[in-house]
Amino acid sequence: MTIRNQRTAFGLKILNSNHKEIRRLKRAGYIADIHGNKFWNSSFLIMDYLKKHPLKKNLKVLEIGCGWGLLGIYCARQFDAQVTGIDADENVLPYMQLHAEQNGVCIEGKKMTFQQLTTAKLQDFDIIVGADICFWEEMSGMLLNLIKRAKKAGVSQVIIADPCRSPFTDLAQRCQKIYGEQAQIEGKWLKRPVNASGEILVVDLTE
Ligand SMILES: C[S@@+](CC[C@H](N)C(=O)[O-])C[C@H]1O[C@@H](n2cnc3c(N)ncnc32)[C@H](O)[C@@H]1O
Repeated sequence: MTIRNQRTAFGLKILNSNHKEIRRLKRAGYIADIHGNKFWNSSFLIMDYLKKHPLKKNLKVLEIGCGWGLLGIYCARQFDAQVTGIDADENVLPYMQLHAEQNGVCIEGKKMTFQQLTTAKLQDFDIIVGADICFWEEMSGMLLNLIKRAKKAGVSQVIIADPCRSPFTDLAQRCQKIYGEQAQIEGKWLKRPVNASGEILVVDLTE
């Protein structure tokens, strides 16, 4: 559903870039510079996946490369998850907090890179999610190392979605080599709320 400068999808209120609150943040100088300047569609692929594979209630969820954070906000609303969003770009965090307020949830935001998420820091989380975060060649290795640390830390599952850019495909193939059947790749096509397609990598780290 679309009303003036905002839409509703998967039960979430999502503001458009010309919404007055978004324009207010831009005027205040919060300008994202690593593609976190808008909400990206791969989050919808994971939301759709989670409708069929719901999370247990009250899990501690980490959204990496959160941008506007709608995926984490979805987990907080639907599954009462305790959500932390991290992003290398601190300028995206006010947009995440704005959307959290608009959707009636509290989530924590931190400026942090994938590389800074040490095994000790990852011990605080049950599940890691991320959408549209594997778009440069070097990100494939960074995220693979993050998944390895997550396993050591006791994280049970990592879910990452992408419209199949080559660094993501590389990451998915490397995960399948290392984790075998514990790493599943699922293709997804959505017609609603937008036309979107891509793949979801789900790595089960419990074994
Ligand atoms: C294409 S945007 C996707 C944002 C959000 N996940 C979404 O789906 O709307 C990629 C995000 O990853 C963040 N990012 C890029 N490199 C990162 C890194 N090394 N560590 C943490 N975040 C990073 C960017 O700042 C940006 O917010």
